[in-house]
Amino acid sequence: MPKKIPFHIPFEHPQILSRTLEWMSTKSIDDDAILKDLNEIYSEFHCSERAYKTYFTQSATQALEMMALSLNLKNTDEIIMPSYTYAATANAFARTGAKVIFADIEKETLNISSRTVAPLITNHTKAIIPIHYGGCAADLQSISRLIEGRNILLLEDAAHGIGSFYKGKSLGMVGEMGCVSFHHTKNIHAAGAGGVLYVNRDQEEHINNCDMIYFQGTNRLDYIKGECSKYSWQTLGGEYQMSNYQATYLLESLKYIRNVTDKRKKFFERYMEALLFHKNKWDAQMSLIEIIEDASINGHIFPVIMKTLESRKKLLTLFYENNIEAVTHYEPLHQSIAGKKYGTTRTTMKGTVDVHSGLLRLPLYYSMSNEDQDRVIDTLIKFFEF
Ligand SMILES: Cc1ncc(COP(=O)(O)O)c(C=O)c1O
Repeated sequence: MPKKIPFHIPFEHPQILSRTLEWMSTKSIDDDAILKDLNEIYSEFHCSERAYKTYFTQSATQALEMMALSLNLKNTDEIIMPSYTYAATANAFARTGAKVIFADIEKETLNISSRTVAPLITNHTKAIIPIHYGGCAADLQSISRLIEGRNILLLEDAAHGIGSFYKGKSLGMVGEMGCVSFHHTKNIHAAGAGGVLYVNRDQEEHINNCDMIYFQGTNRLDYIKGECSKYSWQTLGGEYQMSNYQATYLLESLKYIRNVTDKRKKFFERYMEALLFHKNKWDAQMSLIEIIEDASINGHIFPVIMKTLESRKKLLTLFYENNIEAVTHYEPLHQSIAGKKYGTTRTTMKGTVDVHSGLLRLPLYYSMSNEDQDRVIDTLIKFFEF
């Protein structure tokens, strides 16, 4: 049996852990100066702009929860999102009582678009939240144009998006609010899990709400600033603040983000080039993701989309026999038990259903070698030569 090629290996560097432990050993565990440092210098590591306000959380799930809570949603409000996403996107909004409306994805970009969203907009639509699949930007401009002049917010679930850009802006920093994940499955991580919420405009209601939600729905921030003598419970919130350990680990990891992005992008492009060279062999049976013009990617995921479930099964078997770990991805939320309870859709979901049954993610990680990647490519090409 040849050496195993795993799907993913979390990004690690010995300096990250040693510097984190060193930092922690000189500080008290409750000294959250590190979160202030992280807030100050976060953007410098990977983009030229800052979000208007940034909240570091224990996961992107928590950042989504904060985002949803801050909107004061009613149960007549509707939130449009892809069905082809992680349950975290839907959970955050469904638990506020708002209705989740699932939009179809484009088979080429794997993202929702103005075409798939337009028929779902009603007077009840409060927000649209695209995800940026694999760190590949959704067409935010055309969605923005669609909602121009209407009282509808554009939000972003950029869980996959650290190191990716849309028209030069960091993913998550384009819409009204956005979030990014630092789970260990992402390009860099915050000691296993972490997230960040960006509030991108000087919108008093959102900022005030998020300030309270972040601290268990209390006005603790006013207390910290010396603006009141004690703080109390004002609204629904949670224990959302990232731990000092996570924050230190993330700050150290961010020092490598440009390097990690460049390397992952190179692997993404190597896959693309090698497969396009052999396009005549697979064209009838498989397709590849298309990146929109204004996007700069982070090489988070390299998906291939088989035309049938049967051929994906056969390809998975071939990878398995060659000790290569390729993996499927989301189950469509509109077909799930909770998706039917908390959400609905009003259009065909053919893009979602077809992509879900055909999509396979190929191995891609920072410490991958070109030789290992060539083995994946050769195995895939061989599949179409039989
Ligand atoms: C689209 C999307 N949103 C949200 C999340 C949740 O991120 P986290 O694990 O940081 O909570 C994920 C997880 O991978 C995701 O894929």
